Amino acid sequence: MALRTIVKFGAVELDTRCTEIEDFTPDLEELTRDMVQTMYAAPGVGLAANQIGLTTRLMVIDITVGEDPKQLIIIANPVMLEMEGDQREEEGCLSVPGHAGVVQRPAWVKVRGQDIKGKEVTMEGTGLLARAFCHEIDHLDGKLFVERLGVLKRDLIKRKIRKQIRQGDW
Ligand code: NI
Repeated sequence: MALRTIVKFGAVELDTRCTEIEDFTPDLEELTRDMVQTMYAAPGVGLAANQIGLTTRLMVIDITVGEDPKQLIIIANPVMLEMEGDQREEEGCLSVPGHAGVVQRPAWVKVRGQDIKGKEVTMEGTGLLARAFCHEIDHLDGKLFVERLGVLKRDLIKRKIRKQIRQGDW
């Protein structure tokens, strides 16, 4: 087991649509363990594979950040099946450290995917869990939360990050 490096805004993997997993090998379980530990160490409530530089459709979520092991969710090849309602809350991302903004998300979602053995699973979530499902699936589609902000806020964050990059502070 090893902690992986989380790539940041500007990394090409974050703009890449991740590819479906077809072979559910033991390597995948090892990778998933690394992702979970990396998420907990950050700490964060979710992590997508492209955040550690791998463009494979795999994500982990735990809105309790390891407090309750039963809440750990691992999904390969997730697909958003249904959504309902709205919520507006401040959202951030381990790949965009130090920046946050209010993002509109559905209040409830239903997601289908596969577990680490390849078995089909369906899950539902409300509140923070619904937000995490949306945020991580966005990652796997190559989209960051910054792209869902209003244009002014989005440009402000991008300007600040460009300055941080110039200053070698990113
Ligand atoms: Ni994120």
